[in-house]
Amino acid sequence: MSKLVTIYGGSGFVGRYVARRMAKLGWRVRVAVRHPNEALFVKPYGSVGQVEPVFCNIRDDSSVRSVMQGADAVMNCVGTFDARGKNSFDAVQVEGAERIARIAAEQGVGTLVHVSAIGADKESSSGYARSKALGEEAVLAAFPRAMILRPSVIFGMEDQFFNRFAAMSRMGPVLALVGADRNFQPVYVDNVAEAAEKGLAGSAAPGVYELGGPEVKSFRAFIEEMLTVIRRRKMLVNLPYGLASVIGRLSEFAQRITGGLFTAPITRDQVVMLRRDNVVSDGAKGLSDLGISPVAPEAVMPDYLWRFRPGGQYDAIKESAANLRTE
Ligand SMILES: NC(=O)c1ccc[n+]([C@@H]2O[C@H](COP(=O)([O-])OP(=O)(O)OC[C@H]3O[C@@H](n4cnc5c(N)ncnc54)[C@H](OP(=O)(O)O)[C@@H]3O)[C@@H](O)[C@H]2O)c1
Repeated sequence: MSKLVTIYGGSGFVGRYVARRMAKLGWRVRVAVRHPNEALFVKPYGSVGQVEPVFCNIRDDSSVRSVMQGADAVMNCVGTFDARGKNSFDAVQVEGAERIARIAAEQGVGTLVHVSAIGADKESSSGYARSKALGEEAVLAAFPRAMILRPSVIFGMEDQFFNRFAAMSRMGPVLALVGADRNFQPVYVDNVAEAAEKGLAGSAAPGVYELGGPEVKSFRAFIEEMLTVIRRRKMLVNLPYGLASVIGRLSEFAQRITGGLFTAPITRDQVVMLRRDNVVSDGAKGLSDLGISPVAPEAVMPDYLWRFRPGGQYDAIKESAANLRTE
């Protein structure tokens, strides 16, 4: 019988890349999420029955326990940007993280990989960063051999970073950024998945790893690079933190009173996080310790951002036709 991994949040942006890698490695994969009917796309990652979406809510002990039955390895890819509500920072990133680690230890699971984030800090004034630090602490207390991954901003086909700003750049001549001068170190989603694969398969040492890409540049510089890829010129405006926080407060309110029909473009908590650089700390273990070569954004962005070019998929044809006319 091949080995079994349970991936909590395995249908999300990061989780699906881990699910695909584990299936390729020959493992059976259980993708544990609240909406398994929306996760059916993971099934073709393996042969018939090899990758199965199953219902689970990590806010409930028995739900977490039932989908962990027989698992050799466990991964937690569940995260949230919601400060309030049922699926809040504390419910998911502290209590949920602790629950998975505790039950994994109880059930004698071999390896546990937990996804945190760069900037995890118990003293932070950001609820996200604080809950990530408390989550890490709870995971290590219950399962000391866990591998903890702390990625910087993650990019790739389904990201909420370059895709979001590329979509916004179609709306007008100005693109507003918050914390434009802060440094970022975006990491490719499949590099994060490769690190997780090594942890799950037991071929990497446990511990905390900070995962960043090969380039450290300002947020503004990455957005300029993205604009070059989508062939659009925009005026970049750095919004003051105070104003961004007011916009965050108003949009959170709008999201609440519309029952989620309106999605807040930014939350107050994100504004707090954008006051800090998001880069790998000096001396932290990282991708190189795992033997992984990081992929740069410029190598991947054109593969998925072409649809934001003025001519979309026809952009290259239009360009070559324009060259013909000038010859
Ligand atoms: N994306 C980034 O740039 C980034 C950067 C640093 C760190 N991280 C961390 O990396 C991890 C993965 O992020 P992501 O971007 O892949 O997140 P994501 O795309 O939002 O995916 C979240 C996954 O968790 C599931 N989920 C949410 N609440 C759940 C619950 N209560 N019980 C069970 N499943 C639940 C979701 O499926 P259902 O909705 O069907 O339940 C989905 O599969 C998170 O811990 C995040 O904080 C992400």
